[in-house]
Amino acid sequence: MSKIILTGDRPTGRLHVGHYVGSLRRRVELQNSGEFDKIFIMIADAQALTDNADNPEKIRQNVIEVALDYLSVGLDPAKSNLFIQSQISELTELTFFYMNLVTVSRLQRNPTVKAEIQMRNFEASIPVGFFTYPISQASDITAFKATTVPVGEDQLPMLEQTKEIVRKFNSVYGETLVEPEILLPDNEACLRLPGTDGKAKMSKSLGNCIYLSDTEEDVRTKVMSMYTDPDHIKITDPGKLEGNTVFTYLDAFSKPEHFAEFLPDYNNLDELKEHYQRGGLGDVKVKKFLNNVLQDELAPIRARRAEFEKDIPEVYNILKKGSDVAREAAAETLAEVKRAMKINYFEDSALIEEQSRKYSK
Ligand code: TRP
Repeated sequence: MSKIILTGDRPTGRLHVGHYVGSLRRRVELQNSGEFDKIFIMIADAQALTDNADNPEKIRQNVIEVALDYLSVGLDPAKSNLFIQSQISELTELTFFYMNLVTVSRLQRNPTVKAEIQMRNFEASIPVGFFTYPISQASDITAFKATTVPVGEDQLPMLEQTKEIVRKFNSVYGETLVEPEILLPDNEACLRLPGTDGKAKMSKSLGNCIYLSDTEEDVRTKVMSMYTDPDHIKITDPGKLEGNTVFTYLDAFSKPEHFAEFLPDYNNLDELKEHYQRGGLGDVKVKKFLNNVLQDELAPIRARRAEFEKDIPEVYNILKKGSDVAREAAAETLAEVKRAMKINYFEDSALIEEQSRKYSK
């Protein structure tokens, strides 16, 4: 069986370092591993509209931001199809058919949807489109026969729901759809990178994000004001690692080479942590190191972004070409789905003959 990747992001803002360690970095590695037959990376504008119906301009602006973020981290259009969800009408058709296989109570139990409803104060007035987006996400994944879906942990319930839809479809209509596997980051810090203020989640509204497109100066300022251990007041005080954002970021970003290059007094992160816990290591020194580590990772991303920003029409062209390829793949699956569901009347000569025989008696 071919190995196929499908994943994507809602274009509701610029992508940040949480997206990067949670998924983007992995996608680029997978892309360059050569292990996959096809890779589809989707800008989920239709999904973004399910809770931004009154703000289409925001989505439209962020489509290009996300595309630039994708290209700048090293997703390569020669290897990965970058496309825009709303341009593939086959996806909405699949969603309509899958809706028959999912109950309202099952959607209500989806933990991600539940949390989002609370966060948006939607309780009494949930748009139907928003409520059903897990079904549309199942269409996104199955339309491309994806075997592998690299995403953050918050998407786990979506993958569960997709698998259920696949099993249900295949059991009712015959083996047609492919069951996907989720691919989560293997490092705890990458699974849930906190905001710079130590809050559990990076979010634009909390103003605690480091964006991939931030300038060198922005990144430095954000790192130097990061949340650490509030009880670590004097340098000689012993420090805590638990909940210490600077160390969580080092867990996610630092490599042994960084020590040789920027902090040669220590061989590795364990030694640095040990000194911090013992006392005698100040926050500023650790923050400066983290800044170097982050700048090292972000500088090439920033440089690539600057190149792509010079030719925006070409970026749209990449998305258009990717959408054409995606549409073709999704159309193939949709045809198979319609065949399995017995709604392929005009291509089914056996059906026409059978009906003729019935009426010629
Ligand atoms: N729900 C994802 C997000 O919030 C975006 C998305 C839409 C997606 N369809 C997908 C991710 C299919 C993976 C697979 O960012």
